[in-house]
Amino acid sequence: MKIARRRGEVRTALEEARRSGRSIGFVPTMGALHDGHLSLVRAARAGCDVVVLSVFVNPLQFGPEEDFDVYPRAESRDLALLEAEGVDLAFAPEVEEMYPHEASTTVSVGRVSESFEGAHRPGHFDGVATVCAKLFNIVAPDRAYFGQKDAQQVAVLKRMVRDLDLTLEIVVCPTVRAPDGLALSSRNAYLSTEDRGRATALYRALQAGATDAAAADFEGAERTMRAVLEGIEVDYAGCVDPDTFGAPRRGAPVLLVVAAYIGSTRLIDNLMVEPAGAPG
Ligand code: PAJ
Repeated sequence: MKIARRRGEVRTALEEARRSGRSIGFVPTMGALHDGHLSLVRAARAGCDVVVLSVFVNPLQFGPEEDFDVYPRAESRDLALLEAEGVDLAFAPEVEEMYPHEASTTVSVGRVSESFEGAHRPGHFDGVATVCAKLFNIVAPDRAYFGQKDAQQVAVLKRMVRDLDLTLEIVVCPTVRAPDGLALSSRNAYLSTEDRGRATALYRALQAGATDAAAADFEGAERTMRAVLEGIEVDYAGCVDPDTFGAPRRGAPVLLVVAAYIGSTRLIDNLMVEPAGAPG
């Protein structure tokens, strides 16, 4: 596995693959890799000739009060995992490499960025869209792999790809969960043993709300989720249209979304629900 620290090294490393028409799959991450990340690597490995993964804790997507400084970093462990998964190229740049001091352009995706995560984390999706636009230009992949775990991120990036006529395909992979239902997340490392137990409430809330949501009782779904989450500080719990993150539509798939604090750790999760009576 090659390791690149500079943007130019990535382009050089991929020149031959591109010239010979081999397909390039790309997995952007912030590192501290777990089985959720590795499921994306495996999907890319199965679907593409060459697999590139980036490890970059992107300061632009963290708010001033957020956990950028303490975000888990485990580079040598990450690189060993990637080597074992057969990744061809790991791109692990420093902040100065991605954001030279004269940089002054940001990518801002309207509407779909503004509700839910966007409303609670101002500037977050501008940071995500900007770094992904840059990474997509540096790697120039045929396909980029993202987790359904961050459903609004997926909606924002799909919108960006359409709006800016980017030529890559966004591939979305299912959320990987622990046996008790908790969605894997690098931030789970912050949880104490007791909080780790309480954290299962997010997925239980989503499952409980699914029956109401399938019957298009969106307010009922929110009430049900909040009842399961009683005693936990909830940022939001609701039903959305999975593409716009606006109001859900009757008769169409609906996404249940939740964000809550378990102790001081903010966790998010979501669950897609088909309308009752839909085929399949
Ligand atoms: P990060 O949180 O490291 O996640 C990298 C990718 O792994 C994202 O596509 C995320 O949705 C996916 N992922 C995380 N947990 C998962 C799980 N339990 N199951 C399946 N996939 C999971 O998301 C980011 O980094 C950043 O915002 C990034 C896109 C890299 C831009 O900085």
